[in-house]
Amino acid sequence: MMRITTLVIKLIIIVNITFAIAKPTNIRCCHGSTIINSKLYIGGGIVGPADKSNYSSDFFSLDLTVPFSTSSPSDVPYEEHSNLLIKCSGHALVYAVNKGGGMIYLFSGFRGEPKGSAIYGYSLKLNAWSEVTPGGAIMPAESTTKVFGVTDSNLNTIYILVNSTMYIYNAFENFLYISTNLPPYQIYYYATVMLNTSEIAFIGGGNGTNRVNNNHNNIPMNQILLYNTKISSWYIKNAKGTNGMIPSPRQGHSASIAPDGRIFVYGGFDGNGSAIESVGSHPVFTVLEYVNGEFVWSTPKLFGQLFQFRIYHTSHVFGNYLFIAFGRNLTHSRLNTIDTIDISNRDNYIVVTDFVPPGYVPPISSSSSSSPPSPPSASNKNNKNITIASVFGSVGALIIVIGCAYFFIRRYRYQNVIPTPGNDRT
Ligand SMILES: *[C@@H]1O[C@H](CO)[C@@H](O)[C@H](O)[C@H]1NC(C)=O
Ligand SMILES: *[C@@H]1O[C@H](CO)[C@@H](O)[C@H](O)[C@H]1NC(C)=O
Ligand SMILES: *[C@@H]1O[C@H](CO)[C@@H](O)[C@H](O)[C@H]1NC(C)=O
Ligand SMILES: *[C@@H]1O[C@H](CO)[C@@H](O)[C@H](O)[C@H]1NC(C)=O
Ligand SMILES: *[C@@H]1O[C@H](CO)[C@@H](O)[C@H](O)[C@H]1NC(C)=O
Ligand SMILES: *[C@@H]1O[C@H](CO)[C@@H](O)[C@H](O)[C@H]1NC(C)=O
Repeated sequence: MMRITTLVIKLIIIVNITFAIAKPTNIRCCHGSTIINSKLYIGGGIVGPADKSNYSSDFFSLDLTVPFSTSSPSDVPYEEHSNLLIKCSGHALVYAVNKGGGMIYLFSGFRGEPKGSAIYGYSLKLNAWSEVTPGGAIMPAESTTKVFGVTDSNLNTIYILVNSTMYIYNAFENFLYISTNLPPYQIYYYATVMLNTSEIAFIGGGNGTNRVNNNHNNIPMNQILLYNTKISSWYIKNAKGTNGMIPSPRQGHSASIAPDGRIFVYGGFDGNGSAIESVGSHPVFTVLEYVNGEFVWSTPKLFGQLFQFRIYHTSHVFGNYLFIAFGRNLTHSRLNTIDTIDISNRDNYIVVTDFVPPGYVPPISSSSSSSPPSPPSASNKNNKNITIASVFGSVGALIIVIGCAYFFIRRYRYQNVIPTPGNDRT
């Protein structure tokens, strides 16, 4: 009886936690994302229809060790986590190692009210966010453009450009520095990657030095702005095009680097937010390489591409795949789609809709209580079941839990029929 009581108490806690987390609509742009422990974590961004902008505090993940299909976006098996402590967009999510193990750090961006602090950290162990207050410099809570965080190869130091100031956050020491050197011009809506030479490449974007209304001043793509983390200095390098072909300038695109050095640049537009139909940059998918100190663009074919335009998305390389998440379409609608591009063949890039992790072995049977998570086709549609199952870890407990959960969910729902102030139910 005692055990059952304990179980019920635990259950109440779990059910309450699960229901306290709003189901993410997933349709969003301008979010932050990062991959750690084979999970793609996504947080914040702008949600709602094109004419209404709401900043979100959702935080959820996609397990990249189980197969899933991207063809039905609402069935992608996302797992919800504790919400961000602020509503934001254009912020950066980046993982770094600190004395306590590691955290997903959230930096800056645009904020809803209250603005909160510049830096927050998510503990994967505790499934909890907390405010991070480093020693040293002070970073403004809000930035003037979307920000990106890149780390050194030890994952100890995060570099982040906020309002044209290079902030250097040492996660291990919890200390924030400011680079004394400023970039040669201000940049906005660029994309960035850390190169294996300890240089950070800033690709594309607008030149904000003389920014006036509707003057986008896009930076030509044959000009790559670099920050050298070893000597804290900025300089520009030219990029050549294979057969002289240089991609068109762009804003709102993404860049991600593979271990072999290929930098995938995806999407982008001319930067004119007033146009009813945005003008996309070409090609949508393009590859930059940095070999022997020289940048070279190439424009390989991408087969099976579903969308010819995407901005304000994020992208990540994971194994032989490039994941492109959410964003905005040509007519300003936010997206809930994930594109998975097979990058294993450098001459043939292919969009795949059924993602199967490399080396994935399907579970043998569901009768074993220690079997790995089942593929999405089975029963992963219900995130609540996954959460509870992982807590109790046995099929027997799962049955009891589902039974009790049903009882408590009913109770919980009935208790919450009474409208709370500020909760518009119409
Ligand atoms: C956006 O926020 C407003 C005000 O907080 C709220 O009334 C509205 O329901 C929200 N819309 C969406 C799509 O979340
Ligand atoms: C950004 O930097 C400029 C130049 O230093 C300064 O005038 C402006 O107030 C800063 N903006 C914010 C939001 O910090
Ligand atoms: C950025 O704009 C400034 C001021 O107009 C100009 O001097 C500079 O050459 C521009 N730089 C680039 C890379 O476009
Ligand atoms: C860095 O990447 C380039 C490809 O971009 C590769 O040729 C080079 O060997 C790499 N260097 C190191 C030290 O890994
Ligand atoms: C931006 O788009 C608007 C609406 O189509 C147009 O009037 C304006 O000239 C464009 N601005 C630039 C700099 O292209
Ligand atoms: C953008 O998305 C919206 C909503 O899904 C859709 O109605 C619209 O047709 C899309 N625009 C384009 C150009 O595909």
